[in-house]
Amino acid sequence: PFEVKLARSGNVYTVDVGASILDTLRVHGHELASSCESGTCGTCRVRFTDGTPDHRDLVLSDKEQKNEIMICVSRAKSASITLDI
Ligand code: FES
Repeated sequence: PFEVKLARSGNVYTVDVGASILDTLRVHGHELASSCESGTCGTCRVRFTDGTPDHRDLVLSDKEQKNEIMICVSRAKSASITLDI
């Protein structure tokens, strides 16, 4: 498990093993767009401002991976990741 922090609200949630960042945020009432939920369409892209992502998508370029993450499939290698939402 790791923590996801939301930069704008300061909210922090735990993403459990087997749950996605997207699922976790939705459980806590956040409405976020998605489509494929398998890391291929690009709909769920968000910027991150801190932490080390574990990119598992097939969408982002190497350059984009430096500040964006697909939250339907990607996770964090660090103990927490901060999203710009
Ligand atoms: Fe398609 Fe995340 S919903 S890449």
